[in-house]
Amino acid sequence: MPKHINRSSSLRAESAAIRLRGVSRSFSSPAGVFHALADVDVEIAPREVVAIAGPSGSGKSTLLHVIAGIDRPSSGQLWTAGQALHALNEDALTAFRGRHVGIVFQFFQLLPTLTALENLVVAMDFVEVIPARQRRARALELLERVGVRDQANKLPTALSGGQQQRVAIARALANDPALVVADEPTGNLDSRSAGQIMTLLADLGSLGKTVLVVTHALELQRHFQRVLELADGRIVTDRVPPFTLGGRRDEPCTA
Ligand SMILES: Nc1ncnc2c1ncn2[C@@H]1O[C@H](COP(=O)(O)OP(=O)(O)O)[C@@H](O)[C@H]1O
Ligand SMILES: [Mg+2]
Repeated sequence: MPKHINRSSSLRAESAAIRLRGVSRSFSSPAGVFHALADVDVEIAPREVVAIAGPSGSGKSTLLHVIAGIDRPSSGQLWTAGQALHALNEDALTAFRGRHVGIVFQFFQLLPTLTALENLVVAMDFVEVIPARQRRARALELLERVGVRDQANKLPTALSGGQQQRVAIARALANDPALVVADEPTGNLDSRSAGQIMTLLADLGSLGKTVLVVTHALELQRHFQRVLELADGRIVTDRVPPFTLGGRRDEPCTA
C-alpha cells in the first residue's frame, strides 16, 4: 500500500463522498474537439445510491470513469473517497482504484480460467488490503451474500449471466471499497435477473457503500434514491426516481 493513499479512520468515515467542480472531459479528433463531459458540478453523499441515466453518447460512462479514477478529467477538480483525484499521478490513481473502488461491468469480465471463488481471491491478492489468510473465507462469505456460494468452484462459463454478475458484484466488494460503480450492469441480462441485480446493487447502500449505476432502463430507476440524467455531457436533471413501485424509496437505506 503506497503511503500517498490515506487510510486513516477519519477519512474512511467520510470516504464515500464524491464532489465534482467544473469537471470537463474532451476528446480531440481530426474533426475537432468533442466535449464528452462539459463543466459538471455535482455532490454525492456517503451511502447514496445513485442512478446515472441519459441517452447513448450523453457521457454516462465518461462520468463514471472519471469518478472511479479510470479516466481523468481534462479540466476541473474532483474528490472521490477523500482523495483529490485530479492531483494524483497514474500510480497513485491505480492504487486508489484498487483500494477504494469496486467496478461492475456489463459483460461481467470475470477471468475465464479461474473459478468464481478464485476470481475473488485474485482480486484480493492484487490489492493486498485483506490479510492473505482471510481471503478464501471472505470470498465465500461474499459469494454467500450475493446468493451464489454454491457456485464457488465453477468456472464462469458454467454460470448463467445473472450468476456471473452476482460473482462480479462479490468481486467488486472483495477489497471493501467505499464506492461501487456499475456501467449498464443489467444490459446483458433478462428482465428478472436485471431486477435482482439492481436490488443487490441498491442494497449495498445499507452496507455503507456509495453506489453509482449507469442504466438507461427507466423501470430499473425505482431501485435508486436519486437519478442524475445526462444530455450532451451535462447533468440536465437531478431528481428522485419517476416511480416507486416495490417501495424501495420508502425503505431506510442506512446501516
Ligand atoms: N476515448 C474516446 N475517444 C473519443 N471519443 C470518446 C471517447 N470516449 C467517449 N467518447 C465520446 O464521448 C461521448 C460520450 O461517451 P460515453 O460517456 O461513452 O457515453 P454514454 O456512456 O452515455 O453512451 C460519445 O459521443 C463518445 O463517442
Ligand atoms: Mg456508456
